Amino acid sequence: MAAVSKQSVTSVHHWNETLFSFTTTRDKSLRFENGHFVMVGMEVEGRPLMRAYSIASANYEEELEFFSIKVQDGPLTSRLQNIRIGDELLISSKPTGTLVADHLLPGRNLYLLSTGTGLAPFMSIIRDPDIYERFEKVILVHGVRRIVDLAYHEMITNELPQNEFFGDQVQNQLIYYPTVTREDFIHNGRITDLMLNGKLFSDIGLPVPNLDNDRFMLCGSTAMLKDTCKVLDGWEFKESRHGIKGHYVIERAFVD
Ligand code: A2P
Repeated sequence: MAAVSKQSVTSVHHWNETLFSFTTTRDKSLRFENGHFVMVGMEVEGRPLMRAYSIASANYEEELEFFSIKVQDGPLTSRLQNIRIGDELLISSKPTGTLVADHLLPGRNLYLLSTGTGLAPFMSIIRDPDIYERFEKVILVHGVRRIVDLAYHEMITNELPQNEFFGDQVQNQLIYYPTVTREDFIHNGRITDLMLNGKLFSDIGLPVPNLDNDRFMLCGSTAMLKDTCKVLDGWEFKESRHGIKGHYVIERAFVD
């Protein structure tokens, strides 16, 4: 396995019974691009047990932040959900990934399409001032089952627009579109359906995407990725592959 460093937990926030976020110290030598993932884990019975986690913090921040599901019988998350400040975690030393803006062709609008904890890499990207230089509008779509699953809602709607460095850009350029599938909310329905029936685009006042102007980053479950890629492929958008820039990117490491 690649080199791993030991880092301490600096905060833990439980959103609800299925979701939590935590921050850790960051090795001074750790460099990453916003959208990258690392392996995170702990020693279990003397052996490292690690899983891929997108980094939710931006690359200029002092600490690392992660957003995780809690699976009661999951080998790692059943243990990870009980971590406390000061506990030690293992973090791989070489962040990597394909979910990065550099793999996209230039464009006008950037859609960040996520479900569940797939929001994590986009929390990093929307805190990257550079993304607002590259795109006129950044549209963050977060699809969840229940309203309580809309983690980071408060930060996105209240905190980021007040950020002293890029708050103005957030106010003018970031469009947040949370959508809930199993309860009544301001927006309802799966991302794929909202794309196919056009409601997402009419709700935010942007034209139906075209190859010249629109770019996409996707992060969610395997099923969500498969179905969303199918929608984009049907519209003739091309995925970036093997270092060739494209109209959309997904995290290849998360695809089964
Ligand atoms: P739904 O409630 O209709 O299953 P999960 O917690 O299962 O990962 O789901 C998170 C969100 O992603 C839910 O709103 C869920 O909708 C939605 N979702 C699940 N599968 C897909 C898919 N294949 N394409 C688009 N959205 C999906």
